[in-house]
Amino acid sequence: MSKVYVFDHPLIQHKLTYIRNKETGTKEFRELVDEVAALMAYEITRDMPLQEVEVETPVAKCKSYLLAGKKIGLVPILRAGLGMVDGILKLIPAAKVGHVGLYRDPDTLEPVEYYVKLPSDIEERDFIVIDPMLATGGSAVAAIHSLKKRGASNMKLMCLIAAPEGIERVQEEHPDVDIYVASVDEKLNEKGYIVPGLGDAGDRLFGTK
Ligand code: URA
Repeated sequence: MSKVYVFDHPLIQHKLTYIRNKETGTKEFRELVDEVAALMAYEITRDMPLQEVEVETPVAKCKSYLLAGKKIGLVPILRAGLGMVDGILKLIPAAKVGHVGLYRDPDTLEPVEYYVKLPSDIEERDFIVIDPMLATGGSAVAAIHSLKKRGASNMKLMCLIAAPEGIERVQEEHPDVDIYVASVDEKLNEKGYIVPGLGDAGDRLFGTK
């Protein structure tokens, strides 16, 4: 069973309150999501392996550390996932960015892939799949499946807000993928929105409401 990590850092929680507020306009919403994404990137990379190296300072030689292990790939789920990419790239600037686009089939209600573009060195990377809202979990499950099918073996799922229903679905279908969120909210409503959530993340990011 995968783990769920809730980032309770005060800065993340403070900014999330403004993100949730319906009075927050597009510009500020976008900036806040960017900032929270960077803070979450700081937390999610806590377990990255290090290697010891020697460095010569202007004063003396010393032992120091550099990141070791696999390089990182980010995969935002279109379109709302895009809103978190730049924030994460501020901390992991060398990460490559793939994209997965999904739409919901109106008859089956299942996600259908319409766009996938991933880094070519997929097997050499650890991935962070990004979707601000983990609602039913359908898109996240499909995106993770899409990456696995193409050779990705190690990934984390990063969301701003998750519904318990979405967490359960991801844990059921991908028990190897840990989930990192700023909040686990109460439930989904009959329209598939997270309650209380923040509304439609894509619309609020791109001003399309
Ligand atoms: N997607 C959103 O943007 N918001 C929700 O509440 C659920 C899914």
